[in-house]
Amino acid sequence: MNLFPMADVIPLPAPVWLFKTLHILLLGLHFVAIQLLIGGLVISTYWVIRGGRQADGGMREAGRQVLKTLPVVTTYLINLGVPPLLFAQVLFGHALYSASVMVGAWWIGVIFWLLSLYYLLYVATGRGESGRGWWKVTASALAMVMVVAFTFSTVMTLMLRPEAWADMYRQSAGGIYLPQGDPTTVPRWLYMLCGGLTLGGLGVVALGSMKRQTLDMRTLMFRDGAVMIVVGALLQTLFANLAWTSQPTLVHDALASGTAYSTLRAVWLVLALAILGFGAWIATGGRGLVERWGRKAPTLGWIASLLGICLTLVYAAFRDGVRDKTMLIKGFDVTTLPVYINWSVLIAFLCMVVATLVAVGWLTTLVVTNQPQVEAEDE
Ligand code: HEM
Repeated sequence: MNLFPMADVIPLPAPVWLFKTLHILLLGLHFVAIQLLIGGLVISTYWVIRGGRQADGGMREAGRQVLKTLPVVTTYLINLGVPPLLFAQVLFGHALYSASVMVGAWWIGVIFWLLSLYYLLYVATGRGESGRGWWKVTASALAMVMVVAFTFSTVMTLMLRPEAWADMYRQSAGGIYLPQGDPTTVPRWLYMLCGGLTLGGLGVVALGSMKRQTLDMRTLMFRDGAVMIVVGALLQTLFANLAWTSQPTLVHDALASGTAYSTLRAVWLVLALAILGFGAWIATGGRGLVERWGRKAPTLGWIASLLGICLTLVYAAFRDGVRDKTMLIKGFDVTTLPVYINWSVLIAFLCMVVATLVAVGWLTTLVVTNQPQVEAEDE
């Protein structure tokens, strides 16, 4: 029996595959930003606590540098969340709306947490600039991010369980209760949180690889960033496995038919191993590695960034498959939505997407390449 409400019959203005491609791409980048924020909050909290207690060794300065990037990362996080939200509403609106209404109080609460989070990031940055401590502020911000992430994981898994909606609504129409009994929610949430260590670590290595860093600063960022990478990659593998094994057998079977999703899983594993190896190599290389790489250190930063982005995009694509197959089993086939292509709107939209990506890429390159020339190897 099909438990999902009937889909909206207004035709899609572009093919389903195009919506899905853009959705996966932008959602993957949204995930990258989330994980950078989580990792940035973790490491800046750790550094200011350790740096405050013992011979600083540049930790406060390193933490201050990371803090300064977080408001910008959050801007990207939010802006890269909006298009996937619109795409998800177009493709799965009837499921997404129903699930978000069931936990409405939590869903609306996201706005409050986001505003508070943003405020705290600026407070922490300000404290860093004026030489004061910030760990209580960043720890509170981290707690808020975790609540928001849990709310998203809850809604995105609840939307796949129409069989649970009626009971939840009978229990309370106020949207205050969280759903029970879905074994996939917590592993998915923890996967993203641990990704904060992996991507955050890769981000710290990328920051340390910049030309403006001194030898000591680069050594510190490489060492602690690499430890984060190793711990994060191991934990992510654990939770990816838990998220996968907790899926119903029917979803396993559906994803196993055909090669696309097995290939994605294999690619994910290869990338996770590459990241693990990369982290272990930097962690064990110490100061000698930093000195050897000298002026070529930015290459390590680019490798780190590329690995992190690829791993996250592959996860986003696989996760999308889990949703499609789960909904298909329960009677909703996203590929059968009616389409009536509105060419002028579509072309204008694609031009804007390309222009935006070029502008952001150009700005990022400018920031990365125009560094003050305090070369680590010149010290
Ligand atoms: C601190 C802020 C945020 C955090 C920590 C966060 C976290 C998350 C997490 C963990 C997921 C994946 C859930 C899962 O599948 O298990 C997710 C998905 C998503 N987020 Fe965010 N998010 C944040 C802000 C936003 C904002 C502001 C928007 C939109 C305006 C947004 C839009 C989305 C969408 C649309 C999805 C899922 C789309 C899909 O499944 O197709 N997020 N977010």
